[in-house]
Amino acid sequence: MTLLTVEDLTIEFPRPGGRSGGTTRPVRGVTLTVEPGQTLGVVGETGCGKTLTGLAVLGLLPPAARARGSIRLDGRELLGAPPSQLRAVRGAEIAMVFQNPATAFDPVRPLRTQFERVIRRHRGGSREQAGARAAKLLAEVELHDTDRVLGSYPHQLSGGMLQRAMIALALSCEPRLIIADESTSALDVTVAQQVRRLLLRLQHAHGFGVLFVTHNLGEARDLCDRVAVLYAGEVVETGPVEEVFTAPAHPYTKALLAAVPTVDDDGAPLASLPGEVPADVLAVTGCVFANRCPQAEDLCRSTPPAAHTLPGGRSALCHFADPEVAA
Ligand SMILES: Nc1ncnc2c1ncn2[C@@H]1O[C@H](COP(=O)(O)OP(=O)(O)OP(=O)(O)O)[C@@H](O)[C@H]1O
Ligand SMILES: [Mg+2]
Repeated sequence: MTLLTVEDLTIEFPRPGGRSGGTTRPVRGVTLTVEPGQTLGVVGETGCGKTLTGLAVLGLLPPAARARGSIRLDGRELLGAPPSQLRAVRGAEIAMVFQNPATAFDPVRPLRTQFERVIRRHRGGSREQAGARAAKLLAEVELHDTDRVLGSYPHQLSGGMLQRAMIALALSCEPRLIIADESTSALDVTVAQQVRRLLLRLQHAHGFGVLFVTHNLGEARDLCDRVAVLYAGEVVETGPVEEVFTAPAHPYTKALLAAVPTVDDDGAPLASLPGEVPADVLAVTGCVFANRCPQAEDLCRSTPPAAHTLPGGRSALCHFADPEVAA
C-alpha cells in the first residue's frame, strides 16, 4: 500500500486588503505519493511551496493557513484530523529532519537530556535504558564517540555531527516516513554527500519512506527514486528521477535542467531562469508558466492545462507534454 498520498492539496492564506477574494494560494492542487522504503524528491525554485507541502503533511502549517484536499498515511486521513491525533502521528510515524539542526535541539541542554526525554516519551523505560538506546542510535548514524556527543551542548558539535544527531533523534520513534526539508543545504558539499549516503543506508536498514525537499537537482538525483517538480505552487512534472532528468517532459523542467551546468554529485544549485513567477497566480487565466515558456501558444495563455499521464509512471501539467519522452 502507498505510504503517503497527498491528493489535490491546496493551501490558502488570508491576504488582508488583497484582491482575488482576499486570499493567496501558494500551493494549488498538489498531488504526490511516497511508497514504503522509497524517496520522493520535491524540487523547485524558492517560494514554489515545497516547505508548505511538507508542513501540511506534518500537520504543522501556520495557524492562518487553510488546507484542503487529502493527506493520507496508509490510507488514514490526516488533513483535518484532531491535533492530538496529529501529535501522535508525528511522534510515532512521521519524523522530520530540517535544514538547521541547531533549532531541533535546545541550546541550553546537553544532547543526552534531549535524547532521553524523546526516547522515554516514545518507549517509557528508565533513564539508563534511554541512554543506552541513545548510544545505539548515535552509533547507527556513525557518531561513535557517543559519551562525548551525548555530553555535548549543540554548539559544541559541528554542523555535520548535529545533522547526524538530528537523524538519530528522528529514528528514535522508528518512523515510517521521514520528511527532510533542505536537510543538507547548510552543510558543505562533502559533508552533505556523507549525510545523504547515511540516509540511504538507514533507509535500506529500516525501510522508511522519505519526502525529500530540496532546491538542488543534483542532490535529488543522488538520493531520490521519484521526483515531483513544483512551479509556483503546482506540481508540473512527476516521474522516476532518472527518466525525468534525462528526458524532461515539461518545459519548466527542461529549462531548469538547461540552467544547471551539471547535475552531478556536487549538485549545483538551481540557476534562476529568465522572467518571473506571476505576482498574482490567481489572476492568471491559462498556464502559470506561460509567461516564461518558450513553447507557449495561445491555448496556454487562455486555458489552464490538466495533468497528462505519460508512459512509465510519469505525468506533466502541460498542453504540449510530449508523450514520446517516456516511450
Ligand atoms: N505564513 C505564511 N503566510 C502567507 N504566505 C506564506 C506563509 N508561509 C509561506 N507563504 C508563502 O508561500 C509560498 C511558498 O512558501 P514555501 O516556504 O513553501 O516555499 P519553498 O518552496 O519552501 O521555498 P524555499 O526554497 O525558499 O524554502 C511563498 O511564496 C510564501 O510567501
Ligand atoms: Mg522551503
